Amino acid sequence: MNFNLNNIPSQKGRIAIVTGANNGIGFETTLAMANYGFKVVMACRSLNKAEKARVDILQKAPQADLDILQLDLSNLDSVKAFAKKFKNNYTKLDVLINNAGVLIYSGKKNNAGVELQFATNHLGHFLLTNLLLDMIPDHHASRIVALSSLAHKNAKIYFDDINGDHIKDREAVYGQSKLANLMFADELNRRLKKANKSIIALAVHPGGSASGLFSEMSRLKYYTFKILSPFILNSPASAAKPSLLAALSLEVQGGEYFGPQGFNEFKGKVGYAKRSDYSKREDVAERLWELSEDMTGQSFL
Ligand SMILES: NC(=O)c1ccc[n+]([C@@H]2O[C@H](COP(=O)([O-])OP(=O)(O)OC[C@H]3O[C@@H](n4cnc5c(N)ncnc54)[C@H](OP(=O)(O)O)[C@@H]3O)[C@@H](O)[C@H]2O)c1
Repeated sequence: MNFNLNNIPSQKGRIAIVTGANNGIGFETTLAMANYGFKVVMACRSLNKAEKARVDILQKAPQADLDILQLDLSNLDSVKAFAKKFKNNYTKLDVLINNAGVLIYSGKKNNAGVELQFATNHLGHFLLTNLLLDMIPDHHASRIVALSSLAHKNAKIYFDDINGDHIKDREAVYGQSKLANLMFADELNRRLKKANKSIIALAVHPGGSASGLFSEMSRLKYYTFKILSPFILNSPASAAKPSLLAALSLEVQGGEYFGPQGFNEFKGKVGYAKRSDYSKREDVAERLWELSEDMTGQSFL
């Protein structure tokens, strides 16, 4: 696939939501989407951080059309309030980029007792997407984009221990949440197809990027990454490219998965990404959907 970001026609009149728009890959995705002409709704948990990011984007792109709406994905009430506000203030949603994420396992749980990475990375986005589905025009250019990760490859869904209380390897908890992002995109796409919709859902991973997530690492790990990052990792702007491909290319199909194709898939030209066999299991994706409905208390599609 030869995707050229310079050939994208103006997207004026179209509306996108980017979650976690204030930092890292979400910031760069928002900047690029605004440059293509989208009105971008920055869905951020901190209004102060969002406002600062908006000022930074406007310095680089003075014509950018940016709104801010508060969203804490770890809290289902906040997700519901966001969806309600969005529906009251906008007439449609053309592209939803489910970008926000928590990388470092903290052991913390949300107010419903759900581990924060699963709650934020997966459940919040599951509910947000489904609540907004009826705002999305039934068109092939309408997109729902999930940010997965290379970390999905060693992961599985721990249905008997979704909070990861008994998992010794803490990175497996992050892996589970990113696998859930990928499998949710697949399952959503299958259900959209079954409902005869033209909207497509697809997933991407950004490779490795020295973004804000790494600031939560131990100092030693952080500085090692900082020194090595220009050689092995993507800049946040390059790491945003898979999301842009998924959001903008008219050649992509629902259920596809994109990422950088260089060494170890950390950086490089964007194309089809590799995925684990486990991630292709439709029975697991369906069970995850049902579990997510139970955990959010709502049924969809
Ligand atoms: N960086 C990588 O190498 C890498 C690799 C694979 C996948 N990814 C994925 O790429 C996505 C973006 O990561 P990044 O590297 O750009 O990370 P980042 O710089 O840390 O940005 C994460 C964003 O998510 C937001 N967020 C966290 N918890 C939230 C919540 N409860 N509600 C709403 N927003 C919340 C953060 O808001 P605050 O600023 O308020 O914390 C921030 O805006 C994530 O989904 C991540 O899993 C990243």
